[in-house]
Amino acid sequence: MSSSELPEYALVNREQWTRVNAEFTDANANAAWSQEEITWGQTHAREADVGVLGDFAGKDVVELGCGTGYFGARLKRNGAARVVGVDVTPAQLESARRVNEASGLGLEFVEANAEATGLPDSSFDLAVSEYGASIWCDPYKWIPEAARLLRPHGELVFLRNSTLRVLCTREEMPSDTETLQRPQRGLHRIEWRNPDEVEFALGHGDWFRLLRVTGFEVLDLVELFATEDTPESTYYEFSRAWAERWPLEEIWRARRRS
Ligand SMILES: C[S@@+](CC[C@H](N)C(=O)[O-])C[C@H]1O[C@@H](n2cnc3c(N)ncnc32)[C@H](O)[C@@H]1O
Repeated sequence: MSSSELPEYALVNREQWTRVNAEFTDANANAAWSQEEITWGQTHAREADVGVLGDFAGKDVVELGCGTGYFGARLKRNGAARVVGVDVTPAQLESARRVNEASGLGLEFVEANAEATGLPDSSFDLAVSEYGASIWCDPYKWIPEAARLLRPHGELVFLRNSTLRVLCTREEMPSDTETLQRPQRGLHRIEWRNPDEVEFALGHGDWFRLLRVTGFEVLDLVELFATEDTPESTYYEFSRAWAERWPLEEIWRARRRS
């Protein structure tokens, strides 16, 4: 996909994910792919406990911002008929394809911006994102794209940083604070400098309204606190102690009304 077709923030984020990929070995990827149990994000909440995916056996799934593909791999291993991973970073997809080949699981991968995938209308039963489009894409673009890709009554399930976490994050390490670092009013695009990244976030009211006007009904919003499996310190230095008191992450589940 040529750079001129991508928004500037997708190019910034693609560079960063190319750097991250260089530190991520196939051994890391293999370990992540071989996990059978479906867990969510940095809290490692178990799908068996949160129950947001419904019965996806035999369903066609698209993962928006699939990275190295481990989340989709777990869905395939647990019965999904077809899993298509979409990602904008070629290096991430190369890792995903190598592990996919070795695993024999048969996922498919597409290099594209998750805000405009080029995949056919109404071709999936379930769209998921675990720290993919859910934080790196503009919600006003990727949520309508997810709606377009889903069949009538298809479901969208995505994990993101909780709004409270976004409001309490600072650039310096450790980045978790107990004080608000930015206003919620106008929350949308967040630019980080160390490293250079562009993230997107909305408050709950704006998420709810966006999903509703895009043709979804909201089925669930699960806030994730630390579990017994949450590490002491997560990526970007959010501590377990913080996540014991406030939600570190949240999962939205929505269904296309028609
Ligand atoms: C944290 S990783 C996703 C992890 C994923 N759950 C997995 O199983 O590996 C974030 C991914 O989002 C991708 N991404 C960032 N911006 C994107 C965009 N505009 N379209 C598609 N993917 C994007 C990055 O390339 C990166 O691979």
